[in-house]
Formats: sequence, C-alpha cells, structure tokens
Amino acid sequence: MDEYEDTLLVLVNQTLDLMWPLALFFILLLTYPPLAVWRCVRWLFTFPWPMQDRVVLITGASSGIGEHIAYEYARLGARLALVARREERLEEVEDNCKSLGSPDVQIIQADVSKEEDCKQVVEETVQHFQRLDTLLLNAGVAHIYSFEEADDTKGFGPIMDVNFWGYVYTTKFALPHLRRSQGQIVVNDSIVSFLPQAKTSIYNASKAAVSQFFETLRVELGSAVPITVFLPGAIKSEMTDGKVLLPDGKVASPDEAFRLRNEAGFGLFPLLPTSALARRVVKAARYRRPRVVIPSWYKTMFYLKIFEPELLYTSLRIFWSGRPSFAKRLSEIFGGGIKPPGPKEFERGGFRKDE
Ligand SMILES: NC(=O)c1ccc[n+]([C@@H]2O[C@H](COP(=O)([O-])OP(=O)(O)OC[C@H]3O[C@@H](n4cnc5c(N)ncnc54)[C@H](OP(=O)(O)O)[C@@H]3O)[C@@H](O)[C@H]2O)c1
Repeated sequence: MDEYEDTLLVLVNQTLDLMWPLALFFILLLTYPPLAVWRCVRWLFTFPWPMQDRVVLITGASSGIGEHIAYEYARLGARLALVARREERLEEVEDNCKSLGSPDVQIIQADVSKEEDCKQVVEETVQHFQRLDTLLLNAGVAHIYSFEEADDTKGFGPIMDVNFWGYVYTTKFALPHLRRSQGQIVVNDSIVSFLPQAKTSIYNASKAAVSQFFETLRVELGSAVPITVFLPGAIKSEMTDGKVLLPDGKVASPDEAFRLRNEAGFGLFPLLPTSALARRVVKAARYRRPRVVIPSWYKTMFYLKIFEPELLYTSLRIFWSGRPSFAKRLSEIFGGGIKPPGPKEFERGGFRKDE
C-alpha cells in the first residue's frame, strides 16, 4: 500500500515539475496588469506616517547606521529609546538627538545577544514611554576571514547571537506592544543575505536567517504589524572600517581592524555615507515598504543570481581570490568612496565616524 502511495506521489510531483512552470507563466500573464495598476494606486494613496511623539526603539544606536537613523527620527520629533553596550557613546547620541528635535530620549545599556537583556530593553522602553510604535532592529557584528582560515570557532556563535537571536528575542517581547499601538517593525538585514560575498560566511548566514525569519513573520502577522526589511549595500560605519569579531570571539583592535580592512579589499564596493542610508531607511519605513535594497543598484545582483548564477559566482570568486585579491587591487587603483579608510581616520583610537 505504502509503495503504491509513494509511486503515486512521485507521479504527482513529476507532473507538477512539468506543468507548474507553464501554469505559473499564464498566472503571471493574467495577474501582472491588474497588479501594476494596484501598485500605482497604492503608491498614489500611501502617505508617510507622522513620527511626532511616536516612540521608536533602536538597537545598536551607539554608532554607524543605528546612530544616523536615530538622528533622522529625532528630526521628525520622535521619542527615542537608544540601545547598545557603550553607554558614553549613547550619551553623545542622546545629546545630538535632543538638539535635533527629539522631545524625549532614553538610553538603555544592554547586550542584545542575551535574551534577558532583550526583554529588559522592551520593558524599560514601555515603562518609560507607556507605548512602543516602531521597533528598529539594527545591532550587529561581522567578521572578515574565510571559513577555512579561521583558526578558532569561538567567534562563530556570537555573530548568530547578536545578528539573529538578538532580533528574534526583541521582536518576541515587543510584539504585544506593537499590536496594541498598531506599530511596525523595521529590520536592518543586508544584501549579503542573497549575495555570497567571500570572507563573511557566518555573517552572511546570520543575515539570510534574519531575512527568512521576518519574511515568514510578515505572512503570519498580515497587516497587523507591518514589517519593513531594508538591505544595505556597503555603508560607512565602524563595521566597514574593520571593527569586527576575530575567530576567537574578541573584537579587532583599531590596528587589527586597519590591517583586516585593507587586506580584504572590501573597498571594491563604493561605500554609501551613513546619513544617506538613514534618510532612505526612515522614508521607506514611514511608507511601510516591505523590502528595500539601498542603494538599489545591488538589486541587479539578485536577478543575476537567478538568471546567470554562473556569471555571479565566477566573478565573486575571481574578485576575492589571489593574494592580493583582484578586489583589493581594484580598490587600490581607484580612490574616493572606494578607498578604505587610511591611518588618519583611525587616529582617535577609535574608528572613522561618518561625516
Ligand atoms: N556597514 C555596512 O556596510 C552594513 C551593510 C549591511 C548591513 N549592515 C548592518 O547594519 C547594522 C549596524 O552596523 P553598522 O554598519 O552601523 O556598524 P557599527 O557602526 O559597528 O554598529 C553596530 C552597532 O551594533 C551595536 N552592537 C553590537 N553588538 C551589540 C550587542 N551585543 N548588544 C547591543 N548592541 C550591540 C554596536 O554598539 P555597542 O558596540 O556600543 O554595543 C553598534 O551600535 C548591523 O546589523 C550590520 O550587520 C551594515
């Protein structure tokens, strides 16, 4: 009986293998024109959410993308809960946000790789502001080493703990409050969730997990809590300056960061200034866009991966192979936005801050 059922199932799947692509072609042909009209109507009649006095919780607000997103919300008059581990940096960001127009800023020192800290972050925010309107998940850590050259595995887990579990736990605790306020979730993912950039395999995997988690959550939540996932390309920040986790789990010092950043040749991709990204993120969130790639030219890589994966994988391999890699040589030849930060930019004992 089992054998008969299995044969039948194989036949059904073989029929679907043949018929489904054809059926889908006709479905697309029929549905695309009305969908295009609907998109135009939606575009015309979607207005940005007013942010005055709304409460926005931002994780990883002490530097880089999170810091600049905080400034954008501050300009719109939002009240802010800023989360990170470095309290002094948060205090600086708090002062800047207040001078930009935020009526109330709360800073919360927390390590989002810990479930209890994620809970505390949400509880403290709601206790202070009595509501939560936007949860902006941004805190993250990366690495710059190929999987094979890592001489230790201790550094793998923390990347997943911050980048994936930190997002998941904070969302779990924030969701009841977001439902109550008809709020939204904004997620900092990355283009590496679909683009297999070399030397960041664990980081890429954490971002792919984030992508799929929030796409699934979007299906589960429907329109009750809109989710905006943004996928940045290469952006100026401490991370792209080389402040990354080493295989032993320790954070690279400015000296190590300088070496790593220069060796890897990541400068191949022209960096986008952090403030330019932040403006586009906040705009996309206020219009409740489901998914945005910033800058949008990286979207072409997605189509390349689907239609000509051979070309994409071969070029990525060529770019990152050799010592120095082709990517590094290119970044040395070009200058400007493509050039990695120089020693001067690391001078303050820290990392380059976006101008
Ligand atoms: N820069 C890019 O090219 C790029 C591209 C795509 C996506 N992204 C994503 O953008 C996000 C922000 O990165 P960034 O580029 O702005 O780099 P960044 O300047 O290094 O910012 C990282 C932020 O995350 C915080 N953070 C790290 N670990 C934390 C932890 N355990 N608990 C709480 N906060 C923690 C850091 O604060 P503390 O150290 O004070 O805790 C800092 O505020 C990350 O999710 C990253 O993956 C960046």
